[in-house]
Amino acid sequence: MAIPIRSSEITPEHHYLNRRQFIRTAGILSIGGLVTAACGTTASPITNTVSSTAIIQPTVAAAEAVTTTDILGAPPNTLEQISNYNNFYEFSTDKEEVATLAQSMVTTPWAVEVGGLVNNPGTFGFEDLLSDFDQEERIYRLRCVEGWSMVIPWTGFPLHKLLAKADPKSDAKYVRFVTAMDRDTMPGLASFVYSWPYHEGLRLDEAMHDLTLLATGLYGQALPNQNGAPIRLVVPWKYGYKSIKSIVKIELVAEQPKTFWTAAAPAEYGFFANVNPEVDHPRWSQSSERIIGSLQRVPTVKFNGYEEEVGHLYAGMDLSVNY
Ligand code: MTE
Repeated sequence: MAIPIRSSEITPEHHYLNRRQFIRTAGILSIGGLVTAACGTTASPITNTVSSTAIIQPTVAAAEAVTTTDILGAPPNTLEQISNYNNFYEFSTDKEEVATLAQSMVTTPWAVEVGGLVNNPGTFGFEDLLSDFDQEERIYRLRCVEGWSMVIPWTGFPLHKLLAKADPKSDAKYVRFVTAMDRDTMPGLASFVYSWPYHEGLRLDEAMHDLTLLATGLYGQALPNQNGAPIRLVVPWKYGYKSIKSIVKIELVAEQPKTFWTAAAPAEYGFFANVNPEVDHPRWSQSSERIIGSLQRVPTVKFNGYEEEVGHLYAGMDLSVNY
């Protein structure tokens, strides 16, 4: 049975940020992988390696963290905001109800099966994923297709490291992801509107990109259930629905896989789902977004600020057709 995380038990994020500020001022850590561009934003992933034990001992991760904004210069949302406004349809379509309902999800033991078109299929226990791969901090903006966003300090490791272990065969062209499905603890599964379990997909080159993260924590501690415990995908240049939660299966496949949201409403939610202010949703504009916690809308940036890093993946593609 998973131990529920109540917000009162969560390390206050101002302690986390103060600790980070202290370390930075003291000049103890070196800053790696951070390139400042002319406009003052960072031009490469904001990445810091932290000890995998940091997931269990939050203050260790906090001490290692050295960056304080996402690529567009916004500071992280509070832990309170990040863990109390959630899309996790397995529990509820009401964002403010998910945090409570998700506490019933059982996340230990947990294993992720990696298979399909690979030379080394395997099943990885969550603890092994924590110890086998260095855990890094990545501060990413999660831009929901609904027009809001949040800035989240994730910990995790790049998906390509796990895929390299599995060794994709030459005919593997896409990666398919599947969320856990437990009718006893997930009341949302009773809805016949959706095709459960939640499933998502990426093209193999998107999955292999260094920005694509398997997140195992946020704010230096284990992922709250409502944010996709114990392990979820985060693809920072795509709308949030690609960032599938609570993953139990990763499968390499030859054909573009069907996805949860394209099955539900194909004209509204495409396979690629790249953040793009130039391509509106059929029912609303995508030109701006509201960062949760702020009343103002700010312009949405193509690929969520990562055009330099990922634009080449879509060279020659019409993004209004491949939305
Ligand atoms: N994964 C699963 N399994 N179920 C979901 O309903 N919602 C998606 C994505 N991953 C969802 C999911 C959507 S629409 C968004 S915007 C993000 O999770 C929200 O992540 P957050 O609650 O951590 O902010």
